Amino acid sequence: MNLQLSVPLLVGRRIVLGVTGSIAAYKAADLASKLTQAGAQVDVVLSEAAQKFISALTFRSLTGRAVYTDSDLWSAEAHLLHVGLAQDADLLVIAPATANTLAKIAHGQADSLLTITVIAADCLMLVAPAMDAHMYENRATQANIETLQKRGITVIGPAEGRMASGLMGLGRFVEPQEIIGHIRLALGKGGPLAGTRVVVTAGGTQEPIDAVRTITNRSSGKQGYAIAQAALDRGAAVTLISAPTHLDPPVGADLLAVKTAKELQSAVLAAIPEADVLLMAAAVADFRPGQAKFEKIKRRKGVPKINLEPTEDILGLVTEAQQKEGLPRLIVGFAAESENLIANARQKLEEKGLALVVANDISSEIAGFEVDNNQVTLIDSEGGVQELPLMSKVEVAEVIIQRVLQLLESLE
Ligand code: CTP
Repeated sequence: MNLQLSVPLLVGRRIVLGVTGSIAAYKAADLASKLTQAGAQVDVVLSEAAQKFISALTFRSLTGRAVYTDSDLWSAEAHLLHVGLAQDADLLVIAPATANTLAKIAHGQADSLLTITVIAADCLMLVAPAMDAHMYENRATQANIETLQKRGITVIGPAEGRMASGLMGLGRFVEPQEIIGHIRLALGKGGPLAGTRVVVTAGGTQEPIDAVRTITNRSSGKQGYAIAQAALDRGAAVTLISAPTHLDPPVGADLLAVKTAKELQSAVLAAIPEADVLLMAAAVADFRPGQAKFEKIKRRKGVPKINLEPTEDILGLVTEAQQKEGLPRLIVGFAAESENLIANARQKLEEKGLALVVANDISSEIAGFEVDNNQVTLIDSEGGVQELPLMSKVEVAEVIIQRVLQLLESLE
């Protein structure tokens, strides 16, 4: 269970959501719902064609706000509405955006409430095209999209796959969660971590035994991915070095996929000369099979003996590099402990030369490995100990990144 769905970056933000006439319009309802739950004020404008696919009532029920259609263009408030809707908006997103609407806005047409709102808007603008592959590939559509991009409008997708017509190709509406990732990226730009490179490691490494078997651990990668997202929300450039997980990487992160501790080590050492902050959330194997077999070990050959050898302590190598080169400016480590939480975590902080250690008690079943929640204690190099209550990993990530911001400020 997620304890909290709100996203600090989105709370109180005014977002105008334009919905146009594509079969993907039903997915815009999910987008409106997710944005509202995250704390944004969502004003929906429906085109004439969109109303054939989905009703204003659907959006009114999901957003708790008035929903606008072309009939409002001629109402008593029309003179305010036609330039006012996007006036104090933080962002305008058209999702789904049809070929027709893209063409209209590329050419500055203003023949509907939505296109008038677009031409009067002075805020961040995003469009998520959705159409049949042939319509998308058409040279006119391509030229219109290029025009919009040149004007600084972010074009999200489209994705590849099966379309309502049965055709396979480019033209599918990008999933709402990913559109929210683009919205966060756009709103986060220029935030307090702008100009800062943050490297996050996440997930559990896999050490091969043979062609099919590995030694791994129960890390889901959720905490690391949430930290990467929280850093992106504050405008950081983020490198996410990820061991295998089942998660979608946050939009905007530079993803480096690794499997073994050795690969993670190489990726981290290559990334840190450019890094201001390293957050080492990955659960790295401490031991690996000495000689992995390339073929599958056969049952009939009996129970094999697996000799283990140690992996390098990556944080130890990073600290050495920091002492020589001065980067990363800040190293944050994690401590997974099943006993003596504070004492063991403090020892890791000192031995590994960390500015901050995030300690969690892995013996708990409601927090830590695999689940969505975490209960951590933050210990800093000044001796400060902050015990946090049970929170979602998303909230824990927010607190950690806030601390990183404070620590970076104290270094200046
Ligand atoms: N870590 C690392 N390299 C390793 C193992 C761990 O850099 N080979 C990092 C982890 O990413 C984490 C921190 O060190 O940020 C502590 O990891 P943890 O598994 O809690 O501790 P270990 O150092 O492995 O010590 P122990 O297993 O004995 O508790």
